[in-house]
Amino acid sequence: MKFLVTGACGQIGSELVPVLRQRYGRYNVVVSDIDTTRLMTVFDEPSVKADVTIRKEIENVIEAYDIDVIIHLAAILSARGEENPSLAWRVNVEGLYNILEIAREYDLDMVFIPSSIAVYGPETPDNPGDIAIMRPKTLYGISKVLTELLGEYYYMKYGLDVRGLRLPGVISWKAKPGGGTTDYAVEAFYHAILRREYVFWVRPDTRLPMIYMPDVLKAFIQLIEADDNKLTVRFYNVQGMSFSAKELEEAIRKYIPDFKAYYKPDPLRQKIADSWPKTIDDTRARRDWGWRPEWDLEKMTVDMIENLSKMLLKQ
Ligand code: SER
Repeated sequence: MKFLVTGACGQIGSELVPVLRQRYGRYNVVVSDIDTTRLMTVFDEPSVKADVTIRKEIENVIEAYDIDVIIHLAAILSARGEENPSLAWRVNVEGLYNILEIAREYDLDMVFIPSSIAVYGPETPDNPGDIAIMRPKTLYGISKVLTELLGEYYYMKYGLDVRGLRLPGVISWKAKPGGGTTDYAVEAFYHAILRREYVFWVRPDTRLPMIYMPDVLKAFIQLIEADDNKLTVRFYNVQGMSFSAKELEEAIRKYIPDFKAYYKPDPLRQKIADSWPKTIDDTRARRDWGWRPEWDLEKMTVDMIENLSKMLLKQ
């Protein structure tokens, strides 16, 4: 199997690519991004600068490397998408369409695309499962509903194997997230370690579903390798934990006792956070392909502080 990973230099790609290369062989995982500088510093060859909004650039990579599977990570997240809707449209909608059309034309084996809790909205009932009311209020969320619906459509109409995880906020230390509403759950650790204080951009009672990167990586591999016969939907909820900003503050303070937290809700990101569910139900992923998270708030906090301190304080 030969993979192309788009948006490889982002938070997820930076950690997923090494895992894929370890498992399937370095030359079977081609990485692409529009950020050439990061592409060259973060990854070994094979790596290609490619813009998902330009179909020809992606087609060239598919042909040159004889790709079988696209892992399509390139996306503009929720908060950045509200600040720059036309960019979000181009990358998240036109880019998505390019990827699906190319996969269909070249008869690829699979397209794997992350979805997000951003597909949900205020009308969604508590703890939604995979099939629930989805009336998102952000362009990012709308583009992820489109991702899911088009993915299902290509699967039914053309037999293209499109699948993906509906991810909550992703917490990790190796590469920073960018432009997301849930990024405070990562930033808080950076600030706690470097400055002993952090100003949360949400209220203390803001509770959202989250997941730690090792669980994300495990879920990617499990779902990529899952037998298609076992799948009963194309996009699966996965959740590692759910905590409020206040609970995160307290968890960090257990290990950094002089950590001070302040709260200054940002109207844009608070509104987005308030429109998302506090927890999501991932029973179907557990049942269909054996998903089981290993990281909770306490365990993640210890690991984040340990690894991030090593990384930041040695610089
Ligand atoms: N972490 C993402 C965001 O906040 C949610 O998918 O936009």
